[in-house]
Amino acid sequence: MGRIALVTGGTRGIGAATSIALKNAGYTVAANYAGNDETAKKFTAETGIPAYKWSVADYDACVTGIARVEADLGPVEVLVNNAGITRDAMFHRMTPQQWREVIDTNLSGAFNMTHPIWPGMRARKFGRVINISSINGQKGQAGQANYSAAKAGDLGFTKALAQEGARAGITVNAICPGYIGTEMVRAIDEKVLNERVISQIPVGRLGEPEEVARCVTFLASDDAGFISGSTISANGAQFVV
Ligand code: CAA
Repeated sequence: MGRIALVTGGTRGIGAATSIALKNAGYTVAANYAGNDETAKKFTAETGIPAYKWSVADYDACVTGIARVEADLGPVEVLVNNAGITRDAMFHRMTPQQWREVIDTNLSGAFNMTHPIWPGMRARKFGRVINISSINGQKGQAGQANYSAAKAGDLGFTKALAQEGARAGITVNAICPGYIGTEMVRAIDEKVLNERVISQIPVGRLGEPEEVARCVTFLASDDAGFISGSTISANGAQFVV
């Protein structure tokens, strides 16, 4: 049996592509999800990957949920912090609730998931933590002060933890996807998407979820053991660091 991987937000979008890619690479995969029961059921029926429901924004729910996964499958060796939401608004219209919801899920969610799993990875002297940040955490995006702040925070989190995990055989890396053709991106107003987003992508198209998933499987592999604290951009040359 392969290593155990847990993917948050793992039944839709980049998360679903990642769960499937890891399964195809031989991992035993659990997919967490927070809300969409119908999609999760369909995902499990189609892929055979079990789905577990809890919100990554809730620390206690993460502790309980991770315990369920580990009781069913074994200790989590690869954690993909992918779950994320948007609450886009120009800052002068952004509400405290829109700010909090995005920070709680996209930034605190990475803490809430990694913190309970970290001691086991340290004890076993192996771990892979892969945080899905965003191009908008690197460059900032008008209409996303909340999201850009959270995703930039994920990069700082990645770099600090990479140093702490190094001696314990744990690598911690981030991937910054650009605009990928998921429900989240397709929810942007069509005119805004065509005129302000796709026009800014030099390759002239949205990315595919599988193009991000392949970065995850590489970082999860034994071949990537010397790569830690790094950020891989997959953005069609939209933003070059
Ligand atoms: N830079 C500067 N100003 C901008 C701007 C930009 N990029 N975009 C909009 N504005 C200005 C507009 O010109 C307008 O100014 P005026 O009022 O002076 O005319 C003002 O901001 C309001 O713009 P909108 O009419 O678009 O405002 P709205 O309230 O209808 O919509 C919005 C605001 C929802 C944020 C919308 O602009 C939008 O959806 N923008 C795209 C945001 C985006 O890229 N989200 C990414 C989602 S996908 C994702 O997050 C995944 C990932 O990791 C990449």
